[in-house]
Amino acid sequence: MKCQAYPSEAALAAALGRIILDTIRRLPGLVLGLPTGRTPLALYAELARLTAREQVDWSDVRTFNLDEFVGIAPDEPGSYRAFMQERLFRHVKVRPEHIGFLDGTATDLVAECQRYDRAITAAGGIDLLVLGIGGNGHIGFNEPAEALAARTHLVALDAPTRAANARWFGGDLSRVPHDALTMGMATILAARAIVLIATGETKAAAVRAMLYGGVTTAVPASFLQLHPQVNVMLDQSLADQLA
Ligand code: PGA
Repeated sequence: MKCQAYPSEAALAAALGRIILDTIRRLPGLVLGLPTGRTPLALYAELARLTAREQVDWSDVRTFNLDEFVGIAPDEPGSYRAFMQERLFRHVKVRPEHIGFLDGTATDLVAECQRYDRAITAAGGIDLLVLGIGGNGHIGFNEPAEALAARTHLVALDAPTRAANARWFGGDLSRVPHDALTMGMATILAARAIVLIATGETKAAAVRAMLYGGVTTAVPASFLQLHPQVNVMLDQSLADQLA
């Protein structure tokens, strides 16, 4: 894994925003995998800003988000689908039919997960997948466990993960869903290129274990060591903790 530190969150967002937009120019039909959370907020703001300034055309870009809560409709506040609409999609004008998303209100959640893996395959696979990392080492919602699931699946969220997501529900933990759908480890590792972004000292232990620990299901992100094309982008406050 290549690892690079940037002086600030803003500098990291600017660098990755540049990479993504240059890639779209080169490959207008880019299939982009995307995360939600606090970490990508600066990236999405930067992509919105640069796309408007440079008139970048996203009309052929396809997106697939990593995960979604169970029991929250796509248009409901708190859903990751609504988060993406607000933070990125409406600004850069991804075509609605090009937005791949898990539906946490599907009546058959197993079938929904299978549909998602098939849709990714039908799109030709993910060219570039942007990931965050949980403080517990999760990627997507693949939580530390004795065994990890390969394909898109239903998962029970860990207590720290629910607590970290309370911010999207007015700080009210009782409103955070207990379950989610997430791309599995093989779905993630099948992406042709992966960029993992992490900022802030609270992620230092997870990033250290991902980079320097063994490959273990206790730190799902450590499986990225098996992938030939992973770039890890950190801010300096986190990188300082690794030294
Ligand atoms: P965060 O989440 O960006 O809100 O810290 C990252 C993650 O849990 O993958």
